[in-house]
This record gives sequence, C-alpha cells and structure tokens, in this order.
Amino acid sequence: MDFIIKPDTQWNQTKTGCLVVPVMDQQGLSEPLKLLDETLSGLISRLNKAGDIDKSNGQCTLLHCPESAPFSRLLLVGAGKEMNRAGFLKFTDAYLKQLKQIPAANVAVVLSELQVANAAEAQLVQLSCKLAEANSYQYDETLSKKAKAGKLKKLTLICEKSNSANKDAAAQGKAMAQGINTARHLGNLPGNICTPSYLARQAEKLAKNYTSISTKVLDEAQLKKLKMNAMLSVTAGTEQPAKFIIMEYKGGKSDDKPYVLVGKGVTFDSGGISLKPGAKMDEMKFDMCGAASVFGTLTAVAELGLKLNIVGVIGAVENLPSGKATKPGDVITSMSGQTIEVLNTDAEGRLVLCDALTYVERFKPKAVVDIATLTGACVVALGTHASGLYSNNDTLSQQLREAGESTYDRAWPMPLWEEYDQQLKSPFADMGNIGGPEGGSVTAACFLARFTKKYDWAHLDIAGAAWNSGANKGATGRPVSLLTQYLINQQ
Ligand code: BES
Ligand code: MN
Ligand code: ZN
Repeated sequence: MDFIIKPDTQWNQTKTGCLVVPVMDQQGLSEPLKLLDETLSGLISRLNKAGDIDKSNGQCTLLHCPESAPFSRLLLVGAGKEMNRAGFLKFTDAYLKQLKQIPAANVAVVLSELQVANAAEAQLVQLSCKLAEANSYQYDETLSKKAKAGKLKKLTLICEKSNSANKDAAAQGKAMAQGINTARHLGNLPGNICTPSYLARQAEKLAKNYTSISTKVLDEAQLKKLKMNAMLSVTAGTEQPAKFIIMEYKGGKSDDKPYVLVGKGVTFDSGGISLKPGAKMDEMKFDMCGAASVFGTLTAVAELGLKLNIVGVIGAVENLPSGKATKPGDVITSMSGQTIEVLNTDAEGRLVLCDALTYVERFKPKAVVDIATLTGACVVALGTHASGLYSNNDTLSQQLREAGESTYDRAWPMPLWEEYDQQLKSPFADMGNIGGPEGGSVTAACFLARFTKKYDWAHLDIAGAAWNSGANKGATGRPVSLLTQYLINQQ
C-alpha cells in the first residue's frame, strides 16, 4: 500500500475514491464541515438535521456524492466528544473495516480534523499507516479457498503539516506493519509446517531478501559442542531437529556494538513429560511468537534501513514427550556451567533461553532483549493488554516502556527481587527450573536473570499479548511495534 501525506489546505476539494472525515460530537457543524457542506450543496446539514449522522466514536455514515464533487464517496466517521489514543485506534479500526466493504482503491483521511489527547500528529500518522497495512493481512496458507486481495492501494493522510516527521512516521508505520504481518504469519502457521527447520529456512530467506542481513544456523551437533545442554534437554523427546538461528543486521558502523534480540522459538509446546492438559493445547503452536517477533522486527528494521547493528537469535525446538525425553528430576549443565534440576519439563522456554542468553555474550552487546511466551502466570497477572517487562537496567526498562507506550504496544514493569529469586533453590542443582506456584512470571524472569549478568538485559513475557484466543484466534504480531520503535529511538 502507498501512503501519502498532504497538507490540509482545501481538503474539501480532495480528488479521491473516498474521503474519510471525522465528525466530533458537538452542537451544529464545525467550520470545516460547513465548508464540506458547501461543496455538497447542503447535504451534510440536511443529514445532520434529520439526525442521520451518528457521531459516537467509530459509527460510519457512507454517502455517494454527486458527480460534481471531487470525491466519489464520503465516509463520515463519528469521533465522539473527546478522543484519547485508545479511542483513535477504535476510530481507525472502524473506518478500515468499512473501507473493506467498498471497492475504493484510493482513499483520503482528514486526520487534521481530529484532536487526540497526548498524541503528536506524527504518532497518529504512524498508527494510521500501521493499522491500514496490517489490515491487509489475512491468513490463508492452509485454506483451500484463498483470500481475495484487499482493494485499498493508496491511502492519503491529510495532516496539519506535511513535514518530514509525518513522512518518516508513515514509513515507520508501514514497515512496522510489514514486520507485524511477518510475525503473525509465522505464528499462525500450524506446528506441522512451522517446525524448527522451517524457521531456519525462513531465516535464510530473510538474508536472501535483504543484503543487510546475514544468517547462520547451528544444528544439534554444533549445539552439543557449545555445551548448550539446557536447550538440548528440551528437544530430547522429539524427532524434529533443533535449530539455533543467528541473523545479523548490519546498518551501523562495523565497530558499533549490536543490539541483540533473543526469541523463544518453541514451535510446539506439549509440556513434554509434564504433559499439558488437552484444552487449548493447539494454542501452543503460538509458543514461537517470541521468535516470530524477532523475524518481524528485523524485517521492519531492514525495510527502514536503520543505522544500527542488530543481532536476532532464535532457539527453535519442539517440546514433546517420548522415551528419550527429559524427565522431571533430571539435572543438566547449562552452557554457563550452572546446573539446573528440571522439575517440570513444561518450564522449557527458560531452558532454551538461558543457553541462548549465554551464547550472545560473544557479541559484546549494547543491550539484550529477550522475547518469550514464557508463562501462563503472566497472563494471570497482566491479561492480554500488556507484556511483562523485566530488566536489570532502569534506563533500558524505561526506553522499552516508552516505545510500547507511543506505539500502543504496551509493556508494564515487573520486579526481579531477591526474594523471588530464592524460590528457585534446589537441593540437587544450582537451581530448579520452576519457583513454585506463586509469582510464576517473576520467578521465570529471575531464572533468566541468572544468565544475563554480563550485559544490560530486558525480558518481555508476551504470553498474553502474542495471540488472541476464541473467535478471533490468531497471532497479533506483538511486540514488533514496541521493539521497532525502541530501535528507531536508539539511532
Ligand atoms: N509456553 C508456556 C507458557 C504459556 C502457557 C503461555 C499458556 C501462554 C499460555 C510455557 O512453556 C509453560 O508451559 N509455562 C508453564 C511454567 C510452569 C510449569 C512453571 C506455565 O506457565 O504453566
Ligand atoms: Mn511449557
Ligand atoms: Zn512454552
């Protein structure tokens, strides 16, 4: 989709297939709407008098215009009495949904008529472009009937200013959505297609698509040599070979320290010998959404050509029970040398991540962020609205929080206190892999913190944010926006 930023001079004369105009809930017509009313020979005021314009947020009134009008359709969209950023998302979703019903390829939206609390115009531009582009994604890979391509090809945003901040924001929104759609697609693929080997092939494809990215894949024999026994203990029960994927994006100077993203890539999590109950077990195909967000973020970053060095690392495994599977009570020695008693084979994500987090020390990272669908407890604590945010560095934590806030892909800080860490004690190893029933998301993060002492690190528990259950089941592509914005801000 093409995005164009235009200044709001004479927007009532815009030539387009459909002009989208917000209507605030107020007495009478606003000055700009009066102008539009003139263009349409009094049509708007007649509709308004008749009470046919619903001005509550997101309510759409679609009109066909006379041939004399420069736009063939007019979509009036209720904007309510006042609007915050959540309201703006609702408003945007509403008109995009309406636009799907009509064959307009060119659409213009009058953003300059909106007042949104706590949002700069560039932020609204970024969100608009992101939502419009993300809206074009429809999963059809394993459906015999393929989805029809969307009709919308060009979206013009009429803004107060057509400055470079707004133009950059449009490019960022588009790139984020390309990353989001990449992440959603990988997440939605079933476990029998999206295996660790499949993810490795996708990483090689990424390197083919972007000259700025190079990919290396380690197999199990190489992992054994590196003593990555924690990761290997998770893959012991499955026939699918584990893959350790390293993608390097070079956009900075050769000696710039890299930002490292580490993704949990469990392509299916049955729980292993500590087998999960059957209900909703299919959703454990989404247990690689952390890895998917690394793919998505690298896609967005490469599209934007950010002037940074970034390394994306993915531990890709399948967690299944079998005669060869790791058992509760088994003790393993991680790559770091620390020993772990595997008390529950369903707490496998941290076993994959701990070795990956040790491995990335070699990059001498500027900062490391891991992204993982790590604990059901995080969903209990924060629900689906926020990712759990843990960090050993307050500045890094704050930067990630702000990036999440401005993209409305929010994360919320959680503690890494000593008392929680103590819950990991084991009589048979340096630590157990679980910390008991209390504070499960926190003890999982404390486990990871034991492997990240050598650099600034943050952990995003995306168990609640990464996918929707129920009628809308599907991967969300979070937290690609947060991560991309964080990296944009680091340039
Ligand atoms: N992948 C799951 C976490 C998960 C569960 C995410 C449900 C989203 C929804 C993870 O590997 C897991 O099974 N964690 C266990 C940890 C427990 C055994 C300490 C959990 O959360 O139950
Ligand atoms: Mn598990
Ligand atoms: Zn898992």
